[in-house]
Amino acid sequence: MNDRITLRRLDDMHCHFRIGSLLKEVLPFTAQYASRGIAMPNTRPRAILTGDDIFWYRDEIRRALDEMPNRYPFEPLMTIEIRDNTTPKIIEKAHRAGAVAGKVYPLGVTTNSDEGLRDFDSEKISETFRAMQDVGMLLLIHGELDREHTLVTKREEVFLPTLFKLAERFPNLKIVLEHVSTRVGVENVRQLGKNVAATITAHHLCLTLNDVVGYGIQPHHGCMPIPKDFDDRDELIVAATSGDPKFFLGSDTAPHPREKKECAKGACGVYTAPVLPQILGEVFEKAECLDRLENFTSRFGAEFYGLPLNDGTISLIKSEWVVPEQIGSVVPFRAGDKLQWQLA
Ligand code: DOR
Ligand code: ZN
Repeated sequence: MNDRITLRRLDDMHCHFRIGSLLKEVLPFTAQYASRGIAMPNTRPRAILTGDDIFWYRDEIRRALDEMPNRYPFEPLMTIEIRDNTTPKIIEKAHRAGAVAGKVYPLGVTTNSDEGLRDFDSEKISETFRAMQDVGMLLLIHGELDREHTLVTKREEVFLPTLFKLAERFPNLKIVLEHVSTRVGVENVRQLGKNVAATITAHHLCLTLNDVVGYGIQPHHGCMPIPKDFDDRDELIVAATSGDPKFFLGSDTAPHPREKKECAKGACGVYTAPVLPQILGEVFEKAECLDRLENFTSRFGAEFYGLPLNDGTISLIKSEWVVPEQIGSVVPFRAGDKLQWQLA
């Protein structure tokens, strides 16, 4: 029996590190096992929109790293939010400041998307996407649309034609469909060319809509995109464990203080950073694909981004533990549950 897994240090291609005291709380978990993490730009009150914001946010993250008692080899990969008013000039400056990607939040689909993109078809935004293609920045998309008479469960599906249009118009723009959550989303990513990939979260490999609203409303499973049906989840597991390089880890670890989750109109986001490799170990073990875990966590993302593979390794050992009910101000994913794998 396999009771130890050794993996190249991870790339988590989708992280919400936040700012201020929450940043200091959550960053050590990711830095423990990942050498790089995509720092999502939907921070508030200061969103990351420009090259100047990149300098500021990267410094904040580095300061938080410096304050940690343990020194981990961790590098944040910086992004800006792409809004209707993001210009090619902003792209060039952000790129020079070190932004590797731009993130599109369509208006109103998730946490802090109140100023998200309204129009994917405008001439102005096409010029912005073209500028990203020219400088070699990736386009990361929260692939959902909030339309009248469209249920929250259908928002990814109604976005997919837009993904096809973008992939066709910008064949040299690398596009990531973030946190793919449906079978049809997975199938479309497979169909599209080499310029399109998708991230998969650990929680979408575990949850269905039943786990969110089926047995009492579970605010700590509330996230966007909302977890869906069993066949959707099963197809995500196939995509993650099949060895297809188009699918790689982006945890979307999204911490919110407990009181922002356990209230009316609770915030969307699942905080997986403290349990991420441990949960992935369970999922891949159950799928009898542990030998493919490292490609998913530590190779395919780097290759799509055009980055060298990380140095160093982490190990998971088979040893039961119970996830704390709360860590700092946040309730982690699987709080109070027994997990089988521990970080060595
Ligand atoms: O559930 C989510 N939470 N989905 C997102 O896209 C954003 C995230 C957050 O920032 O909390
Ligand atoms: Zn996210």
